[in-house]
Amino acid sequence: MAPPGLEVAPSSPEIQKITPLDAAAAVVEDDATSASSESIATAARDRVAVIGSGNWGSVAAKLIASNTCCSDLFDDEVRMWVYEETLPSGEKLSQVINREKENVKYLPGVKLGSNVVAVPDLLNAVADATMLVFVTPHQFIEGICNRLKGNIRQNAIAISLIKGMEVKKDGPCMISNLITELLGIDCAVLMGANIANEVAVEKFSEATVGFRHDKRAADKWVRIFRRPYFLVTPVQDVEGVELCGTLKNVVAVAAGLVDGLDMGNNTKAAIMRIGLKEMRFFSKLLFPSVRDTTFFESCGVADLITTCLGGRNRRVADAFARNKGKRSFDDLETELLQGQKLQGVSTAREVYEVLRARKWEESFPLFSTVHLIATGALAPSAILEYSEHTPRQITSSQIQYSSL
Ligand SMILES: NC(=O)c1ccc[n+]([C@@H]2O[C@H](COP(=O)([O-])OP(=O)(O)OC[C@H]3O[C@@H](n4cnc5c(N)ncnc54)[C@H](O)[C@@H]3O)[C@@H](O)[C@H]2O)c1
Repeated sequence: MAPPGLEVAPSSPEIQKITPLDAAAAVVEDDATSASSESIATAARDRVAVIGSGNWGSVAAKLIASNTCCSDLFDDEVRMWVYEETLPSGEKLSQVINREKENVKYLPGVKLGSNVVAVPDLLNAVADATMLVFVTPHQFIEGICNRLKGNIRQNAIAISLIKGMEVKKDGPCMISNLITELLGIDCAVLMGANIANEVAVEKFSEATVGFRHDKRAADKWVRIFRRPYFLVTPVQDVEGVELCGTLKNVVAVAAGLVDGLDMGNNTKAAIMRIGLKEMRFFSKLLFPSVRDTTFFESCGVADLITTCLGGRNRRVADAFARNKGKRSFDDLETELLQGQKLQGVSTAREVYEVLRARKWEESFPLFSTVHLIATGALAPSAILEYSEHTPRQITSSQIQYSSL
């Protein structure tokens, strides 16, 4: 159920409340109808491809398929690219998904929709797609984009649901930017307090779409994802939204460490507060355009809270601390996540590379400590020896940052 005071459309698609967005879409539909050619309307339909089929990728396909199946604006079929694997039964994962309409490995027990089609061939999955949804672990995205180069429609738009960043020689590169650079198409982001298994069973939650300039594209993304139990708000701050979604995984590792050390709720709340402060400081140093208000959207404080309470980064870091750092994160990831990927530890490394290159470590003691614990340079208990510095004033030719 939605919290009091929040406007949630009724659950039946037929009686959903009409919003300005619906009205705008209705105009488009009417225009298409008045052209009195069904083929024109059909030709104008957007076709969505989901690139990735893990836990969140499968939920994304389910959300999208529930919207495309009853719309004249979108092609009914949603193709979902599957990184093919052979299941213990000897069957291919994509074949089982297509037979059962369920991702038995990454989202067992949840039907995706009869219009979701699992496709193991990447180029076949994106053929004719005008809307590309990227949702793989971030370490695979560059290779995927390189394979897609020259094989997508140039009028396609993209959205990234991927949390993480790449660090290149000349500095950090957000995943949405990487997609734009490699494929030459606009890329928005969708982030939020969205633990996949909860959205999958339609428990109420919210998300934020971050966009750069293209508000019409952002509205399309809102329309394709939103459900009565999944409220989506567009915000013109792509970097702010993406950095929130990325950096909170580092804070979640810290929260898991204090859980594993049995420190209780006050300590965990302190870690979350300090983490949020470092998230904001880091984001604004990298991109001065990042808006403070973004941290109060679902992608900000809400995602931070849910990830520190219930996410996989918290869980694995808890186990790491209970094992006194003697079992590596890689080892625990393999044992506890069964094929799912941990993002917080690799993001902590990427953030640390940025901090070190710019001599910012002292201004980000929490981020730095998480990385040093994850690599074994410090014991898990070092997270409690953390003392908050007054952040050094960092100056560069463009950045003068003095107040937090
Ligand atoms: N799971 C969540 O609750 C959640 C919520 C919000 C955002 N996200 C983000 O969504 C993104 C995808 O996460 P997920 O939960 O869907 O995935 P996952 O961790 O559940 O699954 C890993 C996926 O990676 C695939 N894979 C493995 N090796 C690969 C390779 N070499 N090349 C390409 N793919 C390969 C696997 O087949 C599988 O589909 C991540 O950036 C994550 O941070 C996840």
